[in-house]
Formats: sequence, C-alpha cells, structure tokens
Amino acid sequence: MNKLVLENLTKSYGEVHAVNNISLTVEQGEFLTLLGPSGCGKSTTLAAIAGLDRPTSGVVRFGDHVLFDDMSGRFAPPEKRGFGVVFQSYALWPHLTVERNVSMPLELRRVSRAERTRRVGETLELVGLSGFEKRYPGELSGGQQQRVALARAVVFRPPLLLLDEPLSNLDAQLRQSARVWLKEIQRELGLTAIYVTHDQEEALAMSDRIAVMRAGKIVQLGTPQEIYERPQHPFAATFIGSANLIEGIVEQSARRGDAIVTRLRLADGQHLDGHSAVPMAAGTKAKLAVRGERMRVAEESGANTLDAGFTTASYLGNHYEQKLMLAGQEIRMLVDVPQPERAGKIHIAESDALVFSAE
Ligand SMILES: Nc1ncnc2c1ncn2[C@@H]1O[C@H](COP(=O)(O)OP(=O)(O)O)[C@@H](O)[C@H]1O
Ligand SMILES: [Mg+2]
Repeated sequence: MNKLVLENLTKSYGEVHAVNNISLTVEQGEFLTLLGPSGCGKSTTLAAIAGLDRPTSGVVRFGDHVLFDDMSGRFAPPEKRGFGVVFQSYALWPHLTVERNVSMPLELRRVSRAERTRRVGETLELVGLSGFEKRYPGELSGGQQQRVALARAVVFRPPLLLLDEPLSNLDAQLRQSARVWLKEIQRELGLTAIYVTHDQEEALAMSDRIAVMRAGKIVQLGTPQEIYERPQHPFAATFIGSANLIEGIVEQSARRGDAIVTRLRLADGQHLDGHSAVPMAAGTKAKLAVRGERMRVAEESGANTLDAGFTTASYLGNHYEQKLMLAGQEIRMLVDVPQPERAGKIHIAESDALVFSAE
C-alpha cells in the first residue's frame, strides 16, 4: 500500500522552526487536512512532501520509497516523486489552451497523442469543463481556472494529490460547491489527498482526518467528529468552532463512571463541572471549553446552572449570537430568541464542558 509517512520532520530557518518535529502517516485513499492559522507551517510541510523544499531533518517515505532522509542525505526531486500539486494561485500557462494545459503532464510523460486526447477529454469532463478545450486561461472565470488546475494535477493519476489552499481565491458561494466536487473527484478516483487550509469549515466538511497545527507542531490528529467533539487542546477547541474558554481553579477532580469530572471555581465563586482527560490537582488553574451552541438559557437554579448577565445579541440569519458576562468574562452563545439586557441564568451540560489545564 502507498502510505505516506513523515518521521520527525523539521524545517528550520535559522532560529525559526517552521515545521517542528512532525510525525504523521497518511493512508492510501485518505483525505487528510492540515488545518491551522497562517504561519503555522502547513505550506512548509506540504512543500517537504512535494519535494519543492528540502527539510532540515527527518524522513519522508511513500510506499517503499524513501523520498527524503537527512541521515543518508537522500532527497528525491519533485519530478521523481510525481505527485499532483494544486496551489492557491492556479499557475496555469496563460499562452496555452485549456486542452494543452491539462495535456502537459502527459506530454512530459511521453504518453501517445491518442491516449492524451482520450485522457484530457475524460478529465475535463470530470471537472465539468467539456467544451472549454480551446479557451485560454484568460478567458475563464476564477472557478473555471481552478478546475483546470485540478484537471492538470489529476490527469496523470498521481499516487498522491497535494492541495495548498486551492479554494481560497474563490468567492464564498463558489467555494462551497467547489468543496463538494473536489471531494467527489478525490473519492471517485480513489486518490490519496493532503489538503492545506486555514478554513475550519472546509476541513470539517471534506476530511477523513484533520491534523490541527500550531507553531510548526500537530496539536491534534483525528476525524472531524473527534476534533470537534473532543478537542484535546484549548487551541483546537477555540480554533475549530470557536469555543468559549472560561477560566477557573480546580476544586475537585475524580473519576465518575467513564468520565473524569472536574469541578472549577470561577472568579466570582460560582462552580461549574466539566470533563477532563486526566484527574487534575485541586488548586491548579484550568480552562473550560464550551461551544456557543451547547449552552442554553435557563430559568431555574440547578447543577451547572450559572448566574450571568446578558448583554448584546447579533442576528446571524438563522439564530442569534448572544453575548453575556459570566464571572467577569465575556462569553458567546447561540440562541433562537435574543435576550434583553438583564441578569439571567445559563445551563451547560457537564459533558459539553471540557476542562484543560491552563498552560
Ligand atoms: N523562506 C523562508 N524563510 C524564512 N522563514 C520562512 C520561510 N518560509 C516560511 N517561513 C516561516 O515559516 C513559518 C511557516 O510558514 P508556512 O509553512 O508558509 O505557514 P502556513 O502555510 O501555515 O501559513 C512562518 O513563520 C514563515 O514566516
Ligand atoms: Mg501557506
């Protein structure tokens, strides 16, 4: 099987570790996304896989082939790796027709003319551009140019498809539909794909697994559901689905059934129970992550029901973002009915509250 394996991959620029000791295995046929904010090392990781950039240390393997190994000095150039690559900038040849742009990788591989014609036709149909063969890139919309770039990257059936923010130049609506067809093509061709984005929605919608990156490291690797429901790091919780982080001090922490329930005391003395991965020592500082859509307005007091002060609400189309003050901190929650400015109560289910140690 053609697995991609990264072992302790590092790329340093002087003192800056753009990629800091990353290890990762991507299975054949998998769609894996590197997700993180600008500057976290996504493109550097992808360039190391493509061979566009020489890492500082570590190992890159694909199937039986060692593509990079700093110990042996081995470094396979990009043309020897033969991966399909799509960038944010489409990088089409402006003086060549759509047909020639897509045909070029086959010409470089000395595929016969008849076979080229067949495969270019088939691939343009796949990306929905039949009939555009004779156009030049300048005569196409941004979305159509991006389809040509993808057609060119998949026409030779690469064993690995690398995509670096390929949809970020498209407008919001086009980006939505492009996600769907890109994912369909990947599945239909059975391609292994590594996708780079800073857009959490894109990552959640398209990926089999997501690697959440921060400052050159992978902070969490998992399925979209795992990343969203069970963030293992406050950064993953806030970057994906922008959870609230509520600060407090651990009062007690103990296993109860399958869960470890940790009770926090907030700055104003109120208490809130949540789940933590490990028992936490009383007296330590902690952060509790809770998503805005998992909180609700409550009328009566009870366990995990807290006094809060509702402030402003903004209309978001199908619901409102309600702001409120809780223990001196501003929190956002999603509500169907906006609250007037008043003192009120909110409820957070224990299992929707994830407690992390404050670093
Ligand atoms: N050629 C370079 N020289 C110096 N620093 C670089 C170079 N390329 C990237 N970096 C730095 O490496 C880090 C990661 O960059 P990059 O991989 O492009 O991030 P991302 O794609 O996640 O936005 C950034 O801090 C960036 O400034
Ligand atoms: Mg980048």
